[in-house]
Amino acid sequence: MRAKRCLITAGPTREALDPVRFLSNRSSGRMGYALAAEALRAGCRVTLVSGPVAIAPPRGARLVRVETAEQMRRATLREARRAELVVMAAAVADYRPASPAKRKLKKRTARLSLRLERTPDILAALGRRKPRSQVLVGFAAETHDLLANARAKLARKNLDYIVANPVGRPGSGFESSHNRATLLARDGSTRAFPRLRKEALARRLVRLLLDGRAH
Ligand code: PMT
Repeated sequence: MRAKRCLITAGPTREALDPVRFLSNRSSGRMGYALAAEALRAGCRVTLVSGPVAIAPPRGARLVRVETAEQMRRATLREARRAELVVMAAAVADYRPASPAKRKLKKRTARLSLRLERTPDILAALGRRKPRSQVLVGFAAETHDLLANARAKLARKNLDYIVANPVGRPGSGFESSHNRATLLARDGSTRAFPRLRKEALARRLVRLLLDGRAH
């Protein structure tokens, strides 16, 4: 059987404030890297588009390193054209400084206001140009109204599945070795998982997504 082509994104993005500072988030890349390792184990050809992280990529994955949301957008849209399964586990910044300073900001005033602008929504762009044969999976990291917010994202971004990921609680989510998740399908069905190590959750998710029997 021909190996399926999978594209997985992982890690945070960094949005420059000046030449030495940036806005970012707590994503370690562990969830996305575990998904990539599992897809490789399942016999897929895997491309991993990754923001800056401190962990090693799984052996056998084609790694595309990026830093900003704009770089992640370009790499992901390019790589997604030929992918049969796309999973966006990256924590892409929603906002970036509107005018990053060319020189290091000096501390002259007691307060400093930042003007931010929206970054491109990569997952929504993938949903707009999704080939029929592609399975597109997003994550929804939510501190409240988890399932309602995840369902809204699934519909708005034209996804096949979304992994609803409660965050902001200790012991799972960003930076943790463990995660909690519910997989929601386009047809309205759901599959809840207990708190699991990210590797174990990745194994279950990849099996379901590759079988097309997530519900
Ligand atoms: O990296 P770890 O430390 O292991 O943590 C894992 C994780 C918590 C980062 C991961 O499980 C997770 O939830 N990833 C998605 C984080 C996120 O940004 O969620 P969101 O609800 O803000 O975004 C929804 C979806 O849109 C995500 O698939 C995201 O990749 C995508 N997105 C968001 C913003 C943007 N500008 N473009 C996007 O494509």
